[in-house]
Amino acid sequence: MIQPAKPDLITVNIDGREIAVPKGTNVIEAARRLGIEVPHYCYHSKLTIAGNCRMCLVEMGLPAVDPATKAPIVDAATGKPKINWIPRPTIGCATNASPGLHIRTTTPMVKECREGVMEFLLINHPLDCPICDQAGECSLQEHATGYGRGYSRFIEDKNVKPKHTQLGPRVTLDDERCILCSRCVRFSQEIAKDDVLGFVDRGSYSTLTCYPGKKLENNYSLNTVDICPVGALTSTDFRFKMRVWFLKQTESIDPESSVGCNTVVWSREGVIYRITPRANDEVNDVWMPDSGRELYKQVRAAGRLTEAKIDGGVAPADAALAKAGQLLKAGAVAVVGSGRSSVEEQFLTKKLADALHAPAWLVSRVGEGDGILLSADRNPNVRGALVTGLIKELPSARLDQLGAKIDSGEIKTVLSVGEDLTTAGLTAAQLKKASIIYLGTHTNGTSAAAAVVLPTLTVFEKSGTFINQQFRLQKFSQAVPGAAGATDDLVLLAKLLAAAGGGTFAGEAEALWTTLTAEIPAFAAITLASLPATGLLLDRTPWAGLPFAEGATLHYKPV
Ligand code: SF4
Ligand code: FES
Repeated sequence: MIQPAKPDLITVNIDGREIAVPKGTNVIEAARRLGIEVPHYCYHSKLTIAGNCRMCLVEMGLPAVDPATKAPIVDAATGKPKINWIPRPTIGCATNASPGLHIRTTTPMVKECREGVMEFLLINHPLDCPICDQAGECSLQEHATGYGRGYSRFIEDKNVKPKHTQLGPRVTLDDERCILCSRCVRFSQEIAKDDVLGFVDRGSYSTLTCYPGKKLENNYSLNTVDICPVGALTSTDFRFKMRVWFLKQTESIDPESSVGCNTVVWSREGVIYRITPRANDEVNDVWMPDSGRELYKQVRAAGRLTEAKIDGGVAPADAALAKAGQLLKAGAVAVVGSGRSSVEEQFLTKKLADALHAPAWLVSRVGEGDGILLSADRNPNVRGALVTGLIKELPSARLDQLGAKIDSGEIKTVLSVGEDLTTAGLTAAQLKKASIIYLGTHTNGTSAAAAVVLPTLTVFEKSGTFINQQFRLQKFSQAVPGAAGATDDLVLLAKLLAAAGGGTFAGEAEALWTTLTAEIPAFAAITLASLPATGLLLDRTPWAGLPFAEGATLHYKPV
């Protein structure tokens, strides 16, 4: 594992307490490290500074120095350095911590500023919290309680602005709730590189809208919903579905490409309602593609495999496993693993291939990288297959070699762990010629032709790890119970291994890690329980010469 570099530290004083922070740390972030909240709306740590909401006003000062000697002046009364306080409040978001900077966040002046800003922001706000999707995670609601005056002096009629405007296929805007912070505008320009949002009209009539003829339809549009500090931008998919405080949050990984965006899966009583990004400054900052947010729908999608089958007929799971065991023991087997399987599953797949003396393949999925958070490699875990030894070289998209071996009669049984062999180039005739054992989640050409079908779990129903394009080992956790009739892939692989005489292995990720740590040099001294939420960078040197498909993305540059 690789240790990160240590940053340059400077000392600042916030509300009388000193703290050492990395040079260049924003005042809001420096205060956060001391547990002090500097309320803010327009500031976002991953966007440029706009400084337009004024909610982050604080008092600032610097140690006074003797102009002649440049020595600090000591206050005779306190014996401490004298501080030259700026006589007016200053916005914290536009100030980086400098050595000796003093900040006050609790003075009467700061309190009055916050009350004034809150009163101003709420003048035209519809105050429709009971029917607003943002309730529970709304900064306006929270800061009104924490820093507002508690009553309104506004007796005039409120502005009426457009409601439920479709800005694009996935985002709905309620303009009356917008506080014009411009986070969504800056995100579109700076991160999504799709400059579609802007403000029209002046003063209290200012309104957020799309430029004429444009839509907010890029694959990152839902990030604007995440960062909108109020309920103005809402997800059309999630809107009015569920109150957020009822939802359980599970840490997961976006499996749609080798970027491995960190995510949170929000569920209630076994049903997933939404997926949002989870902060990881080394991988995805706080963003993720829209496409990854829709993947939860596969859990309840039509065509889910929920019954084991033998020769197309429904069979008890034990009978199907026994039949699979018989086929494997008969020999002439090939194994097709998957770049979508977890590290643990790939490890057992490799063990199974070894026990059967079977050749192992993987299927590549290469698309176009978008240079942000969708890489060219659409498998989340090809690196896992390399590290576990399942494959030695990068996979190709077609299984032509395997097809030839089936045609020649060299291979009589193919075990596919989640891969649809038909999309990988095997013909219907070849699938007929060999006995196929298929472990998978949904029906497809392979499940239809398989001698044995064993239903397995989606990534949301199990736990494990992936290794992303940076060789970062990251874990995902089970968010919802598995579909009835489906079994954890690890359990099935462990049982097949036992049937094939390959030994006894734990069919559960955490327990299996004792073996992984002992057997795989790259995993030495790592346990699943101690793996940080943001992952661990592995040494990629042994695979440095391989021509990986990825181009540059947000935090990745090809070697
Ligand atoms: S819609 Fe939300 S993020 Fe965009 S400017 Fe308005 S308040 Fe800010
Ligand atoms: S956070 Fe808006 S002005 Fe500082």
